Amino acid sequence: MDASWSYRFLEPRDIDEVKDLCRIWFPVRYPEFWYQDVTSAERYYSLAATHPVDGHIIGMIVCDVKSLKQVNREDHSLLSREHCTEDSRVAYILSLGVVESFRRKRLGSALLNKLIEYLTSPVKRHVKAVYLHVLFSNMAATSFYRKHDFREHMFLPFYYHINGRSADACSYVRYINGGTPPKTIIYPLFYNCVPVLVCYIALLLQTIFY
Ligand SMILES: CC(C)(COP(=O)(O)OP(=O)(O)OC[C@H]1O[C@@H](n2cnc3c(N)ncnc32)[C@H](O)[C@@H]1OP(=O)(O)O)[C@@H](O)C(=O)NCCC(=O)NCCS
Repeated sequence: MDASWSYRFLEPRDIDEVKDLCRIWFPVRYPEFWYQDVTSAERYYSLAATHPVDGHIIGMIVCDVKSLKQVNREDHSLLSREHCTEDSRVAYILSLGVVESFRRKRLGSALLNKLIEYLTSPVKRHVKAVYLHVLFSNMAATSFYRKHDFREHMFLPFYYHINGRSADACSYVRYINGGTPPKTIIYPLFYNCVPVLVCYIALLLQTIFY
């Protein structure tokens, strides 16, 4: 229990509330099965923060722990070779959101910290990285993740399709439990500096032309 909210895991009864919140928070539309999965399937870590008085959901984080075989092609380069084993896992944040009136009160940080606490517990030692994709123009989210020691991993042009238009994304990663990025001479240049540079140039162009 925190001073201003409490925590509980999502349940099937939350489906309509979660749908409404996601419609407000995210420009990307999720299919019906996504809502059913995140509110009921045990494989997801789906934690909600609820209002102390009315019990409504005021924030939530949803994460899936995957083997490297299950990650998208563009995310295959998340881990160094030594961690690319059958046992290694990575945690993918599918969703993190906070209702507007509770933003900048550390609720997003509290939810993320709860997740990291869980992923660094002894039973999750095989999880070597936490990662996510974020709309590249979402400055609140990119600042948030950078503040929490996530780093740009890859710039993903035209990754999302929103209202008939393409939009760029970036993947962000934080290494945990001794996980490390790929060890190549060009790693810091290729996986970090270049995407960051491309992100900033694209943002500049976007600001100028739209
Ligand atoms: C991103 C989001 C979850 C942050 O939640 P939050 O509870 O407001 O974040 P916190 O209060 O814990 O912020 C921690 C730090 O992140 C950074 N940050 C958060 N929001 C920011 C913003 N709008 N602009 C710049 N930096 C921001 C700041 O460094 C902040 O620390 P500070 O307040 O001491 O400066 C929230 O803005 C949100 O729900 N956005 C809509 C949904 C979304 O885009 N989710 C992310 C994609 S999965």
